[in-house]
Amino acid sequence: MREILADNISRYRKDLGMTQEMLADKLGITFQAVSKWETGQSVPETVLLPALARMLNISVDKLLGYSAFGGNVSYYEDDYRKEEYFWGVQPSQMCLKVLELLPPVRPLKLLDIGCGEGKDAVFFARCGFDVSAFDISEAGLEKTKRLAEKARVHVRAFRADLWDFRLDEKYDVLFSSGVLHYIKPKLRDEVMSNYKSHITANGIAAFHVFVEKPFIVAPPEKEENSFHWKSGQLFTYFHDWYIEHCTEYVFDCDSSGIPHRHAANRLFARNLKEA
Ligand SMILES: C[S@@+](CC[C@H](N)C(=O)[O-])C[C@H]1O[C@@H](n2cnc3c(N)ncnc32)[C@H](O)[C@@H]1O
Repeated sequence: MREILADNISRYRKDLGMTQEMLADKLGITFQAVSKWETGQSVPETVLLPALARMLNISVDKLLGYSAFGGNVSYYEDDYRKEEYFWGVQPSQMCLKVLELLPPVRPLKLLDIGCGEGKDAVFFARCGFDVSAFDISEAGLEKTKRLAEKARVHVRAFRADLWDFRLDEKYDVLFSSGVLHYIKPKLRDEVMSNYKSHITANGIAAFHVFVEKPFIVAPPEKEENSFHWKSGQLFTYFHDWYIEHCTEYVFDCDSSGIPHRHAANRLFARNLKEA
């Protein structure tokens, strides 16, 4: 929260071409105070927030990071608006591994982080999981709901942004395929810590992230807000959990119409800490 606020003050001030001194003058405070806010050493007093937000031309919600949809828009929005399913409707291989590790003998709670058009979320619901799923893309969520309706299952699909949405309830499975590279590197520690602390005892994290490799050329699509992970970095976040399976692999991709390759890390980790 402190970090998001610091980031927002700095970002929106710079967007308006204001120096720290100019902002400080407008608020009747010292520029050192602004500097401390922007480095996260302190936070503005609550009474200052409305004026600060006004100076930065944003709402207090957005300043605090609660306005999820201020900037991030899915790169796939236009593709998701089309009738056909961009990622298809077959579940990814990762889903089968989750079933193997945690068969849904009761309605286990599962969250699909960045569900896209819902192929995996709907598959899990069909298998008996109690599924929630979020994505930044409204069009993707609409398709997720349609796919669920067609399969006669329920998926709690909601719009949220990885950058500022934090979990406040626990899940048996956190699942995310090809999405976590949209988290800014600065936020990674905070987000991963939030995710880890919201997985039940014996629950599973099933994550797939894109990683940098010197022998893989950058993909042709220039996605804003995409930050590939360091190879192996995902695994280190779970060093104190039981690693059921982790792997690195390279695969061909044609999603932009230009053939290219990606490197990825895939992890299945179990929370045995609290068990
Ligand atoms: C490569 S797709 C993967 C979709 C899905 N997991 C699948 O495997 O079919 C990446 C997804 O991340 C979503 N996304 C991108 N930035 C996001 C953000 N900041 N918050 C939430 N979702 C985001 C996109 O809308 C897109 O659906």
